[in-house]
Amino acid sequence: MRGLQGKVVIVTGGANGIGRATAVRFAEEGAKIVVADFADGAAVLAEIAAIGGEAAYVQVDVTKPESVQAMVDLALEKFGQIDVLVNNAGITKDAMMKKMTKEVFDLVINVNLNGVFNCASAVLPHMLSRKAGVVLTASSIAGIYGNLGQTNYAATKWAVIGMTKTWAKEMAKDGLRFNCVAPGVIATEMVKKIPEQVLKEKLLIKVPAGRLGEPEEIAAAYAFLASDDAKYINGTVLSIDGAMTI
Ligand code: NAI
Repeated sequence: MRGLQGKVVIVTGGANGIGRATAVRFAEEGAKIVVADFADGAAVLAEIAAIGGEAAYVQVDVTKPESVQAMVDLALEKFGQIDVLVNNAGITKDAMMKKMTKEVFDLVINVNLNGVFNCASAVLPHMLSRKAGVVLTASSIAGIYGNLGQTNYAATKWAVIGMTKTWAKEMAKDGLRFNCVAPGVIATEMVKKIPEQVLKEKLLIKVPAGRLGEPEEIAAAYAFLASDDAKYINGTVLSIDGAMTI
């Protein structure tokens, strides 16, 4: 599988979970990867090196425009171009609305929504100048359907769909594509925070597939959406949830 041969891809939140699986999958397909994360990226860089791939790590805080600009500068210095941005970095800070503080609301808005705006703003001038580029963003089924305890998170995951559709309308004619994925419940650290009993009794019973999704299953969707096979797919949201939402 070398469908992304020579493409340069930034994966935010690429050190862990879905981002890590995405970085490795893109490397398997021949892409050069910039693993951009707040957290240490040594493990994923080693994983990519082990399969003969090429990658660089940059520490970034997506909430800070100057940090995001440094990420883009590094990608351009190291690899000369940026073909794909995967806006994957995200956090949860759950509380029922009755108890949700403004502080916790703003924290999640800052990472999951402002972070996506910051990263897109920083790569778009480059992509527009080349008249080519793909921006993929992590939404969530919680964004489309809402979810208990996730006022802040659902707001951001709905908002990124609106931004993605707007960008597709604004920039399709410039040769750019924008799409979201909406994962269901995927086996990562984020989901390990959910108490076992809640996971079994409240979540898994709603999944016809009868199991959690794997990070690699989201990575596969990103790889397809980034590839030329998806060149007429623009402004859409792909649910990957084991039939949870049908
Ligand atoms: P994770 O918690 O395993 O990894 C998230 C990564 O983002 C971490 O490496 C973290 O260091 C990084 N990050 C957090 N804040 C950052 C910041 N300010 N700047 C740079 N990096 C930052 O999460 P997971 O589960 O892999 O989720 C990835 C994306 O997929 C998120 O946007 C999440 O909302 C979304 N998603 C996940 C689902 C799941 O079930 N795991 C379901 C639906 C959506």
